[in-house]
Amino acid sequence: MAKLVVLLRLCSVVLALRCLTFQFAGAARAFFVFGDSLVDNGNNNYLLSTARANTPPYGIDYPTHRPTGRFSNGLNIPDFISKRLGSESTLPYLSPELQGQKLLVGANFASAGIGILNDTGFQFVHVIRMFRQLDLFEEYQLRVRKLIGIERTQTLVAQSFVLITVGGNDFVNNYFLVPNSPRSRQFSIPEYVPYLISEYKKLLMRLYDLGVRQVLVTGTGPLGCVPAELALRSRNGECSAELQLASELYNPQLRQMLNELNSGYDADIFIYADFQLRSDPGSHGFVSTKVACCGQGPYNGLGLCTPASNLCANRDQYLFWDPFHPSEKTSELLVEQFMTASADYIFPMNLSTAMAIDPVSHP
Ligand SMILES: *[C@@H]1O[C@H](CO)[C@@H](O)[C@H](O)[C@H]1NC(C)=O
Ligand SMILES: *[C@@H]1O[C@H](CO)[C@@H](O)[C@H](O)[C@H]1NC(C)=O
Repeated sequence: MAKLVVLLRLCSVVLALRCLTFQFAGAARAFFVFGDSLVDNGNNNYLLSTARANTPPYGIDYPTHRPTGRFSNGLNIPDFISKRLGSESTLPYLSPELQGQKLLVGANFASAGIGILNDTGFQFVHVIRMFRQLDLFEEYQLRVRKLIGIERTQTLVAQSFVLITVGGNDFVNNYFLVPNSPRSRQFSIPEYVPYLISEYKKLLMRLYDLGVRQVLVTGTGPLGCVPAELALRSRNGECSAELQLASELYNPQLRQMLNELNSGYDADIFIYADFQLRSDPGSHGFVSTKVACCGQGPYNGLGLCTPASNLCANRDQYLFWDPFHPSEKTSELLVEQFMTASADYIFPMNLSTAMAIDPVSHP
């Protein structure tokens, strides 16, 4: 103990600069998160929005057993990625706790309800749309500069790991929200998908310009098979064909666009990952892959998950926690899959490989 104190003293007095550099280099990489409710960890609780997960039983399996704003019974995908990075969970960008050294861990800018397009999720009123999430990331960097200076901020951002999950709402909370929606009158699905991809590309190029060099971009899950869509559109439990068609068109075009960006930058900046469990759900002990743990109506897929909803006893046995979102268990399995999967699932590399690379060696 005494020795440690002496050593720390030495550090602080004699080698102040060296020690600082060492601490900085020894810390886990910063982690930034952008996107929608699949990755929001509480930003919407600070907004006048109806898209919130701030009532029980959300958070029932979280360490505090309280709702946190995550659309999960417990942890969500960003939490499991943070664990893999060896760091604590990032705070929501709007959290007043995100100050000082905590800023160096990273930040979560995601906001439930948003999409690639500005008009997606208009019914949720105050949400942080994608362009605004990127503005806030710029603001974040200015705040960090005041703390550690311009050069180190650039390094922190360049060495960071980024997750972006967005796009599903452009279908379910826009195109397919109501019959005859404005976007469905404007585009057929085979026209709408390339439009979304071209708008997404602009957002990702801005993210690159803001200095990040390693970004995991997830596809949409099987949109037509979520309990909400089964409740609305399915007669015998089959997935909605039109929503399935939408994701089957969207995911390969997203992957293709990321490949083009990487070729243009001459580096593996963007990593595409499928957002669907590959393995047989039964092998993980799931008893239901169609019925949400929390909800009401057919498949527990109607309305929201509230204190009055049906609630399953063992959340780990359900693929879906609520009508749209995976359970904590599913999120853990998805991140496991990101870490270890082969190139037909995650491309051009899995996260074990990605996390072992120093992204600053990129141009
Ligand atoms: C979204 O809105 C912002 C602010 O009005 C605007 O700068 C941006 O260009 C819009 N994006 C699209 C794709 O229309
Ligand atoms: C990740 O990808 C690499 C390269 O494709 C592969 O060799 C490895 O087995 C995968 N899984 C893990 C856990 O690294």
